[in-house]
Amino acid sequence: MPNYLRSHHCAQLRIDHLNQEISLSGWVHRRRDHGGLIFIDLRDHNGLTQLVFDPDVNSDCHTLAHQLRSEWVITIKGTVIKRAQGMANPNMVTGEIEVQVNKLDILSQAKTPPFSVCEETEDIKEDLRLKYRYLDMRRGKLVKNLQMRHKVMHQVRNYLVDIGFFEVSTPILCKATPEGARDYLVPSRIYPGSFYALPQSPQIFKQLLMIGGMDKYFQICQCFRDEDLRADRQPEFSQIDIEMSFENIDSLFKLTEEMFTTLYENCLDKKLKTPFKHMTHKKCIDDYGTDKPDLRIPMHLCTFNDFAKKSTFSIFLNALEKKCLIKAMKVPGGADISRRMIDQYTEFVSQFGVKGLGWFKMQDDKLQSSIAKFFDDSLQQEIIKHTQMNNGDLLFIIADKENVTNQALDHLRRHIAKERDLIDKSKDAFLWVTDFPLFEYDDNLELQSSHHPFTAPHPDDLDLLDSDPVKVRSQSYDLVLNGYEIASGSQRIHDPEVQQKMFTLLRLTPEEIKHKFGFFVSALSYGTPPHLGIALGFDRMMMIFLDTENIRDVIAFPKTQKASDLMLEAPAKVDGEQLRELKIDIDSEEIL
Ligand code: AMO
Repeated sequence: MPNYLRSHHCAQLRIDHLNQEISLSGWVHRRRDHGGLIFIDLRDHNGLTQLVFDPDVNSDCHTLAHQLRSEWVITIKGTVIKRAQGMANPNMVTGEIEVQVNKLDILSQAKTPPFSVCEETEDIKEDLRLKYRYLDMRRGKLVKNLQMRHKVMHQVRNYLVDIGFFEVSTPILCKATPEGARDYLVPSRIYPGSFYALPQSPQIFKQLLMIGGMDKYFQICQCFRDEDLRADRQPEFSQIDIEMSFENIDSLFKLTEEMFTTLYENCLDKKLKTPFKHMTHKKCIDDYGTDKPDLRIPMHLCTFNDFAKKSTFSIFLNALEKKCLIKAMKVPGGADISRRMIDQYTEFVSQFGVKGLGWFKMQDDKLQSSIAKFFDDSLQQEIIKHTQMNNGDLLFIIADKENVTNQALDHLRRHIAKERDLIDKSKDAFLWVTDFPLFEYDDNLELQSSHHPFTAPHPDDLDLLDSDPVKVRSQSYDLVLNGYEIASGSQRIHDPEVQQKMFTLLRLTPEEIKHKFGFFVSALSYGTPPHLGIALGFDRMMMIFLDTENIRDVIAFPKTQKASDLMLEAPAKVDGEQLRELKIDIDSEEIL
């Protein structure tokens, strides 16, 4: 085997290295034949260097270079020379030089790849890129993303270790954890019929670490959730998981803000303004229709019920009778939106179950619209004043069930902001969302935890736990960045009686509590320090840091939107013998 040790990497050589004898190894990126000369762009994980094979310098090398094809792996020795007059490439960091090759060894040949690995080729189907993830990596962007991910991870560790946190690994084979998604289950061979669950998060373990006296814990860990996937969700994802004892919410916010300040400075070369903004959950929903508003968008919602009540518009009046919520959103300068475009927006909101989209344009100090006649002059002036409309603005109005109105207007707000380029991309909008309700209703109108059942109720609302539990606020918080929920956490319950009450309110029978969380309730009763924590969605953070809307761009080997790995072809059928060992009986057609 030829010696393939390198003296330099492929983005390293400059004019200062002129006339030096060097060695490089890498992939053939591009080959060009120019008269007698053969030019090869050689690529490694850092970049490109141009090689030149001149028959007058070394005819054997030149002859061998004729065989080279894209993605072959080679090693060369040669001399750094200046590129000929007018041939310098200012777009390449190594663009002023080239390497005159006097020794070439081919280390491995390559089949023609299923797509070009030149970074410039953009429109390659994602499924194909996922199937050949290692080839996609060679295109550069993914490797750069993974290098950045590494850098951020490294900074996070440095920051937390420096302020006294210890990284502790927790089990992957464990028992169901209560984060609200379905569990991934792993059958046990030794205990047929019993299953481990993969952790949806290390929530219980980090609390047990506090009970055990670990004091300050963190972990960059994998979490597994079998849930409906979206652009910012993966079935297997990473969290920066943090827990600490004898601290309060203010110190946790400060710590998190300092960590982001460090990351922005050291990884993104940006300064951050702290403290971050705070907003209650209720205000978020009132003003933006969502608990993760993108505050870079200069539009917000307002309630329209009182104006609708004074109108003669029957659709709104009927909606009010059915206890619907009517809300409006001003689009600054939106009067140029045509009827056809309004139809398109109506179609857009219909996917959330909305039947109609009302609108007013303000022109000549009056509201113009097919429904304007149902709003008399003084009512129109009230609306104008309340919504601070100016001539040239447009107001969209939706009347529907509360959650439908909010959801549709939240999506419409983001959709229009994107289309009309209204997002101030020069900003990073961090927001702490607080005062979440402790419970919410599930689809069957039964109480479920808004965060998880270990979240402490707000101390001022403890009396409501028995009388009106849906009104109880929790001591949980989310961190939102540019419209993404990037972190979530809470002050935990450390009193076993309150914990027991929580489980009971969530309709767990004493047997279920014992079966699912008996060990935990028991642990709480052995002297538990007040403790709290947070988990940051590391992949989502990286999406924002790397300015991509696709979570798969920041993960080395991600799953598709349908939770499969196209490269491994996982999940996959297994052979009958394995199933027999596990005493799992499934349709023979489903067996390999
Ligand atoms: P939560 O369930 O809110 O809280 O998760 C914390 C953060 O993890 C990210 N996240 C995800 N990222 C990618 N794909 C997913 N499927 C996914 N699900 C969640 C989000 C979210 O804010 N144990 C608690 C934390 C705590 O209380 O300390 C927990 O896991 O950014």
